[in-house]
Amino acid sequence: MPCRFIVISDTHFVAPPADREGTWWNRTTHRYSQKMGEALVELVSSLAPDFVIHCGDLTGWDSKANCELSIEFMDKLGCPWYGTPGNHDTQHPHGRELFNETFGLNGRTWSYLRDVGGLRFFFLDVVHWHADSGESFPFYDMEQDNSGRIVGMGYAECDLVWLERELEQTNRPSVIVTHAPICFRDTYPLKTLPYGKPVMRKMTPPSEFINDMIGRKKLSELIRGNSSVKACFAGHWHINDAVVSDGVLYVMTGALREFPYEVRLVEYTGSSLCISTHSLNVPELREISFVKEWNNEWVKGEQDVRNIIFTFL
Ligand SMILES: [Fe+2]
Ligand SMILES: [Fe+2]
Repeated sequence: MPCRFIVISDTHFVAPPADREGTWWNRTTHRYSQKMGEALVELVSSLAPDFVIHCGDLTGWDSKANCELSIEFMDKLGCPWYGTPGNHDTQHPHGRELFNETFGLNGRTWSYLRDVGGLRFFFLDVVHWHADSGESFPFYDMEQDNSGRIVGMGYAECDLVWLERELEQTNRPSVIVTHAPICFRDTYPLKTLPYGKPVMRKMTPPSEFINDMIGRKKLSELIRGNSSVKACFAGHWHINDAVVSDGVLYVMTGALREFPYEVRLVEYTGSSLCISTHSLNVPELREISFVKEWNNEWVKGEQDVRNIIFTFL
């Protein structure tokens, strides 16, 4: 059954008064969440997808007001939406509660699956905080982090067991959605690191600008051993990119809270995915966000990762 869906990521919705300035690859525009949300609703309505997928960091930080603003806009999209939490959605109980209420989750696990548009989507929660004790926690604890006991972010072991069990029983084309990416290039030709910091080498490994997902290699092996998984979608890095590894397409979608303010449209034909990249109509935000001297226009990605035709093996 063919279908069309939109993939968005890292909206980081912040309710007014939002006066906190920020930067990452470019300037972030929290204070313009309302404008971003309205432009998102307009673009989704014009592309008329069957459903929308959100790759996490729905909220800037998950206060009650930010969650309410996020839901207000997601409910206006005019079609069903599904999503996975990002690290910014784990700082207060409100973010995960939003996912419980929206997707009927039980409050103990935030991984779930949905069969939509002829595809099986696995939403795998990879934003548990792992401590040096070996334990992992669904909520961010600043005290623990400041004391150096948090070693990183990844899935809870029980979620990987769930995914493995479900994949064993799946024989329909499947897509995995995570916040942090499962597969990416070894190096990137960055212009500057986040916050405009200089790059020391021409080709820079991701380890220089972002922490790896805890358990990523184990998850990659699970995917490699399963022929049902056709594609994986992620956000978190706030860049557009795509790589193919062992017959699986891995797609990263840039952030809606900063340059270049884009979404992906995915058309599933039954045996292939045809992906195009579309801009929100927010030229003024693009101008405010882009920091010319940092030269990070590259986050948009080259043509080959913006328009993709991927045929299943
Ligand atoms: Fe983010
Ligand atoms: Fe993130």
